[in-house]
Amino acid sequence: MEFPLRNNRQNIINKKNISILIAITLILFTIVRLSYPFLKYSSKNPEEIYPPYHAEDESIKIKDQDYEKCDISTGEWVPNPEAPYYTNKTCWAIHEHQNCMKYGRPDRDFMKWKWKPDGCDLPVFNPYQFLDIVRGKSLAFIGDSVGRNQMQSLICLLSRVEYPIDVSYTPDEHFKRWSYVSYNFTLAHYWTPFLVKAKEEDPNGPTHTGLFNLYLDEFDESWTNHIDEFDYIVLNAGHWFYRPAMYYEKGRIVGCRFCQIPNITDFPKTYGFRRAFKTAFKAINSLENFKGITFLRTFAPSHFENGLWNQGGNCVRQRPFRSNETLMEGENLDLYMTQMEEYRVAEREGKKKGFRFRLIDTTQAMLLRPDGHPSRYGHWPHENVTLYNDCVHWCLPGPIDSWSDFLLHLLKMEGWRSHKERNSLA
Ligand SMILES: *[C@@H]1O[C@H](CO)[C@@H](O)[C@H](O)[C@H]1NC(C)=O
Ligand SMILES: *[C@@H]1O[C@H](CO)[C@@H](O)[C@H](O)[C@H]1NC(C)=O
Ligand SMILES: *[C@@H]1O[C@H](CO)[C@@H](O)[C@H](O)[C@H]1NC(C)=O
Ligand SMILES: *[C@@H]1O[C@H](CO)[C@@H](O)[C@H](O)[C@H]1NC(C)=O
Ligand SMILES: *[C@@H]1O[C@H](CO)[C@@H](O)[C@H](O)[C@H]1NC(C)=O
Repeated sequence: MEFPLRNNRQNIINKKNISILIAITLILFTIVRLSYPFLKYSSKNPEEIYPPYHAEDESIKIKDQDYEKCDISTGEWVPNPEAPYYTNKTCWAIHEHQNCMKYGRPDRDFMKWKWKPDGCDLPVFNPYQFLDIVRGKSLAFIGDSVGRNQMQSLICLLSRVEYPIDVSYTPDEHFKRWSYVSYNFTLAHYWTPFLVKAKEEDPNGPTHTGLFNLYLDEFDESWTNHIDEFDYIVLNAGHWFYRPAMYYEKGRIVGCRFCQIPNITDFPKTYGFRRAFKTAFKAINSLENFKGITFLRTFAPSHFENGLWNQGGNCVRQRPFRSNETLMEGENLDLYMTQMEEYRVAEREGKKKGFRFRLIDTTQAMLLRPDGHPSRYGHWPHENVTLYNDCVHWCLPGPIDSWSDFLLHLLKMEGWRSHKERNSLA
C-alpha cells in the first residue's frame, strides 16, 4: 500500500486510487485522541497496556488550513503530567551518557513538559500513527551524537509498540541500522560530525579536543554513498565546529579555526560550518536516484553557565525558560542563521530537480531547555571523562522526545501536501 508521502507527479491517477488516497489522507490528517493509557512503569506485555491503534477510530479535528498556517518553531514549554512515555527500564536504547536517572539525577520535572507552538497545538507523539506512516519506508539520521541522541529517543518512544532488531552492516557502532520487522521500517544512523570528509590530525591539539583536518568541499562518502535508498534523511551538525580545525579546500589549507599556527589565517567557526553544509547539501542534490525528503534538524544550543565546558561551566537549572526569559543571540544565532542560509540555497537548488527539503526547526524550543542536559549525571562522579558536565546532549527521557512530535507533524504535513498536489493534477 502506498501512502501519499511520495512526490510522484508522473503518476496517472485513476478514480479508484484517488478515493483510496483521500481516505488515507483523511486518516493521516486527524488528531489522535490520546486515549490509550500511557506507560506507568509496568513490565506487562505492551499489548495489555495499550489497546491497538486503529486509524479508523480517529475523529477529524484539524482543518487543512490549520496545518499550513501553524509555525511550530516558536512557542512555550507547558506542563505535561503524562510524560515521560518510557523509562530506562522499558527502553534499552538510551545511551549510557544520557541515562541521567541511572547516574543519580535527583529531579524529574524536566521530563514533564511538552512543546506548545504559538497559535496551534502540537500533538504529543503517537507511535502507532508514526509507524503507520513510515510502513515500508526508511529513515536515516546523519550527523553527530546529538543526532544519535534523537534516534535513541525515537526508538524509546516507539518501544511502546515495537522494539527494532539490529541489522547493522558493520560492527562499527557509528553506523547503526535497525529494522521494525512488523512495519518493514528501517532506521539508521550515519556518524559524520562535520558532514564533510574529515581526518583527526592530532588527537590532542591546541585545546586537547583534537585538531581535525576538514576537507570542506569534499563529500564524506561514508554517508553520501549510502543515502539514495532512504525515504527520509535527517541531517544535523553543530557542536564539533567549536573544535580546532584546519580548513582545506581544493586539497589545500585555506585557513583554520583556532589552530594557533602563525602563518595560517584564523576563521570564525561559521566559515567551516557554512561550507560543510553547502557541501553536504550539494552531495544530496547531486544524487541520481534519490526520491526521499531531506530534513534539516536545526542547531540545538548547549547551556553552559558560569564558565565554558572545560572551565567548570555547568547546567544546573531544573525548569525550562519562558520565551521572554532568554534570547537567541551570539554563537547560537550565528550557527542557526548560517545553517538556515545554506538550507535556503539548497532548497532552491533542489526544487529544480524535484527534491524536497524540510526543516525540523527546534532551535528556539531547545534554547529554552537549560534543564534538559545530563550535566554531571552522564557518568559516575569518580569517572574521568572529557565532558564532565555535559550541557550538550540531552537526558532520555527528556526534552528531545519532543523532536519526534515535530517529525510526526511534518510527516503528516507531507501527506497533506502530496494529497493536494495529486488532487490538483487530477
Ligand atoms: C534506571 O534508573 C534507575 C534510577 O531511576 C537506576 O537505579 C537503574 O540502575 C537504571 N537502570 C538502567 C538499566 O539503566
Ligand atoms: C519493505 O520495504 C522496502 C522498501 O523500503 C521494499 O522494497 C520491500 O519490498 C518491502 N518488503 C515487504 C515484505 O513489504
Ligand atoms: C606556514 O609556514 C610553514 C613553515 O614556514 C610552511 O611550511 C607552511 O607551508 C606555511 N603554511 C602556509 C599555509 O603558508
Ligand atoms: C514572562 O511572561 C510571563 C507570562 O506572560 C510573566 O508572568 C513574566 O513576568 C514574564 N517574565 C519576564 C522576565 O518578563
Ligand atoms: C583525567 O584524564 C586525563 C587524560 O586522560 C589526565 O590527564 C588527567 O590527569 C586525569 N585526571 C584525573 C583527576 O584523574
